[in-house]
Amino acid sequence: MKFAVIGHPIQHSLSPLMHHANFQSLKMDAEYEALNIPVEHFHHIKDTINSRQLNGFNVTIPHKERIIPYLDVLSDEAKEMGAVNTVVVKDDKWIGYNTDGIGFVKGLESYYGELKKAKILILGAGGASKGIAYQLKQRTSYPIYVANRTMARFDSWSFEINAIPLEDVNTIASQFDIIINTTPLGMGQSHESIMTLKNLKPNALVADIIYTPLITPFLATARQNGYDIYNGLDMFVYQGAESFNIWTQRKADVKAMKTAVLTKLNSK
Ligand code: ATR
Repeated sequence: MKFAVIGHPIQHSLSPLMHHANFQSLKMDAEYEALNIPVEHFHHIKDTINSRQLNGFNVTIPHKERIIPYLDVLSDEAKEMGAVNTVVVKDDKWIGYNTDGIGFVKGLESYYGELKKAKILILGAGGASKGIAYQLKQRTSYPIYVANRTMARFDSWSFEINAIPLEDVNTIASQFDIIINTTPLGMGQSHESIMTLKNLKPNALVADIIYTPLITPFLATARQNGYDIYNGLDMFVYQGAESFNIWTQRKADVKAMKTAVLTKLNSK
């Protein structure tokens, strides 16, 4: 079988290494390559993929929305997200999915356990946030809170959540069992401006969807303040595992995938 990831730039993608680790563990004769597709060449995408006879491919930045007009079928979740990260090629038809949200949530479940009784706050309301909220909503018995700087972002959310302004976060933070940062802010030094990460529930879990670095300043602050932290590495691994499952109907070896990615990240 043949797979790929399309994006631009793509040379630093860890997806080929991660998928190869899985193929090797499952003793599969399969290939996975990284294809660099600049925006100005995107209109050739059908030819590019078809000439390689791929069984499926991942889509990453900056093409997750751009791919949609080329698809024959779109999953409900991908439709809701308005973004696709996984395409199956079946009988010459292209079917689009989004495994980012389920990837984060499956990873979180593997670490945290049952999410049903967790009260969860998500910071940010972009594409990643929406996918995660969509999946979490199906698993928890409490409403999901989503905080964002710009309230108008919620206009395109068709499912129900508790939308709150970002500036209200500090006053309600102590209610939550899990706080997930999906904004790019945790990467810089300005993390204090998202929220203070103080006076949370004593056993609160503070999560970020970023995995480079493995510990963002946002997570480092949470850890200094005594909270358990959780980074975005599992999200990356599980989104890949879910893509693999969609392409092959087989269960991926997530442990082999994670080890391969961690080994690479730690060797840098
Ligand atoms: P992604 O698809 O990775 O989620 P995105 O769609 O660009 O990325 O969303 C980025 C998120 O980070 C948004 O919630 C954005 O808030 P706005 O909707 O108000 O723009 C949030 N974000 C980015 N920079 C921010 C900042 N300086 N302060 C607060 N939120 C910020």
